[in-house]
Amino acid sequence: MSKQRVGRILKISGPVVEADGMFGSSMYEVCKVGEEGLIGEIIRIQGDVCTIQVYEETDGLLPNEKVIGTGAGLSAELAPGLIGKIYDGIQRPLPDILEQTKDDFIRRGVVVPPLDYNIKWPFVPTIEKGTKVVAGDIIGTVKEGTVVEHRVMIPPGIKGTITEIVKKGDYTIKEPICKVKHNGQEIEIPMLQKWPVRHPRPIKKRLEPSIPLLTGQRIFDTFFPIAKGGTSAIPGGFGTGKTVSQHQLAKWSDAQIVVYIGCGERGNEMTNVLEDFPELIDPNTGEPLMNRTILIANTSNMPVAAREASVYTGMTLAEYYRDMGFDVALMADSTSRWAEAMREISGRLEEMPGEAGYPAYLASKIAQFYERAGRVLTLGSKDRQGSISITGAVSPPGGDFSEPVTQNTLRITKVFWALSKDLAARRHFPAIDYLISYTLYTDELAPWYSENVDPNFLAYRSEAMAILQKDKELEDIVQLVGPEALPESEKIILETARMIKEDFLQQNAFSDVDSYASIQKQWLMLKAIIDFYHKMRELYNQGVKLPEMMNLPIVDKIARMKYVPNKKAEKDLGNLLMEIDALHADDIVDRISGRMMPGLTKD
Ligand SMILES: Nc1ncnc2c1ncn2[C@@H]1O[C@H](COP(=O)(O)OP(=O)(O)OP(=O)(O)O)[C@@H](O)[C@H]1O
Ligand SMILES: [Mg+2]
Repeated sequence: MSKQRVGRILKISGPVVEADGMFGSSMYEVCKVGEEGLIGEIIRIQGDVCTIQVYEETDGLLPNEKVIGTGAGLSAELAPGLIGKIYDGIQRPLPDILEQTKDDFIRRGVVVPPLDYNIKWPFVPTIEKGTKVVAGDIIGTVKEGTVVEHRVMIPPGIKGTITEIVKKGDYTIKEPICKVKHNGQEIEIPMLQKWPVRHPRPIKKRLEPSIPLLTGQRIFDTFFPIAKGGTSAIPGGFGTGKTVSQHQLAKWSDAQIVVYIGCGERGNEMTNVLEDFPELIDPNTGEPLMNRTILIANTSNMPVAAREASVYTGMTLAEYYRDMGFDVALMADSTSRWAEAMREISGRLEEMPGEAGYPAYLASKIAQFYERAGRVLTLGSKDRQGSISITGAVSPPGGDFSEPVTQNTLRITKVFWALSKDLAARRHFPAIDYLISYTLYTDELAPWYSENVDPNFLAYRSEAMAILQKDKELEDIVQLVGPEALPESEKIILETARMIKEDFLQQNAFSDVDSYASIQKQWLMLKAIIDFYHKMRELYNQGVKLPEMMNLPIVDKIARMKYVPNKKAEKDLGNLLMEIDALHADDIVDRISGRMMPGLTKD
C-alpha cells in the first residue's frame, strides 16, 4: 500500500470538498477529511488537487484542515452478521449510530464497524487440508441467524492448496480459518472479506433469465413477470403505491435474501420501514422477514453523498450472497432520490448539466446499476447458480414518465410496472396500469410456465390481456353513445373485463389471505374467469341473456376466489371450474321458469 498522503482543504461547497497536496491519490479512494476525520471519497483529480464527496455533514469544516488518503476504495465488509442489519449508505449500522445521536441525524466522525468483530460464529469446515481451491470455493458454513446458511468462500483473486483449516468450532470473523498456499506464499483467510462497492464482484458466466421470480402478486406473476436475475422499474407519482409494491416484493418474492435500499424518501417513511420490517413474518419459514433481509436506509436528512453511495453498498452485499448461490431480490425505493443526489453533487462540481439538470452521465450510471443484476454461475470449481433481481421504484415529478430518470431507467430495465394515478384514485390496487405495462421476459419464461403451471397458461393470459384491450376500446364507445348501444356479445366482454380487473388484478396488500397468491391459485383464478367467459359466449349462442348469466351464483363465487386460502385453492377453485364447465343453458332457463329467481328477467 502506498504511504499515507496528507493534504489540506482548499474549498468547501456543501458535501463537496477540494484539497491539495494529494498527489498520487486514485479515483474513488476514501479519505478522512478534517480534524474529525469525516469520511469522503475522491471523485475528481486534477494534478495534486482532489475533489472529495463527503458522506457526513460538512458544517463547521474549515480550509486548511487536513485530508488523509486511506489508499483504499469505498469498500463493504462481507462476513456472517450482515443479515438482519440496518445500515446507512456507507455500511454503518444505523441503530448503533442513531442510538448515539438520539435523532435522525448522524453525528459526524462516528466510527462504528459494519460488523461485530467479537461475536464468535459456529464455523463448520467443508473441505480438508490438501484440497486445491479457487476463488469462490466454499470452505465452510456458518448458521447465520435462524434461516440463512452462510457459505464462507475463498475470496476473488486467490487460488492454491489448503495447507491448514480450523476444526469445527466458534470463531470471530477476523480470525484466520484456513491457510492457502498461493503462488508459493501462504495466505491466511478469515471469514471477513472486503470488496470495493463500485466494482461488480466477478462471476463465471451469465445464464438465461428463464425462471420467474414469483412474487405472489397476480399483476406481476401472471401479467408482467420478472425473471430471477431480471430488472424491473416501477415508476409512479406521489402516493400511487411504489412503497407498498416494494414491500410486497420484499415480503413475498421467492428469493432467499432480500436487500432493501430505502433511498432518501421522507424521514418518517423510512422510520416506517424500520418499524415495519422487523414485524414482518416470512411466509415460507414462519420466521421474521429480517432473518433474511438487509436494510440500507437513507433519509432525506442524511448527506446526499451517502445516498449516492447507498445503491452500490446494497448491490455489493447482494452480490456477496448471490456468490454463495442464493437468489437475491434487491429493491431500491426510490432511485429518483439517488439520481437527485447525483445531480446535487454534479452541480457542486460545476459540471455541464444535461437534461433537467441531471449530469450527462446519468444514463450510464443507471445502466451500470441495473447491469449488476443477473442469474449467473458463480466463481468456484463446482457449478453454483445465484441471482440478483432488481426492482427500482422511480418517483417522477408530477407523475410524468417522460422525465430523464424514468426514461433512462426504462431504456435498461426489461419490465415496466407503470403505476397509474387514475387507478389509484379509483382505489384499484395495485394501481399498475395493465394496458401500458410490459415484460420482455415472456419468451424466455414461457417454457417454465408451461411445465410448472399449465401448458395453457400463456394462452389464457394473452386472452385476458386482449379482453382488457377490447374493453378499453369499448369503453371509449360507451363514453360516446352509452352502454345500451352495445350488442349483448360485447357487453359480455365488458363484464369479463370487469371480472379480470376486480376479481383478479385488484389485490389487497393488507388482506391476510389476498396479500399473497400462489402461482397455482393465480392460474386457477385466471382459468375460472376465462372459462366462464367462454361459457357465457356459449350460453349466449343458446339464447341465455346476459343479466341471467350475471345472476348465477357462480359470478359471486368468482368474486370471492381471492379470499380462498392458498392451501384450499386447488380443491375449492377446482370445484368452481367444474361448476363452470357443467353450466348448461337448459338448467338456467329451467330454473328461471320454475322458480322465478329474484332479479332474473325472462323475455
Ligand atoms: N396493493 C395495495 N393494496 C392496498 N392498498 C394499496 C396498495 N398499494 C397502494 N395502496 C394504498 O396506496 C397508499 C399509497 O401507497 P404508497 O405509500 O406505496 O405510495 P408511494 O407511491 O410510495 O407514495 P410516495 O410517492 O409518497 O412515496 C397506501 O398507503 C395504501 O393505502
Ligand atoms: Mg413511497
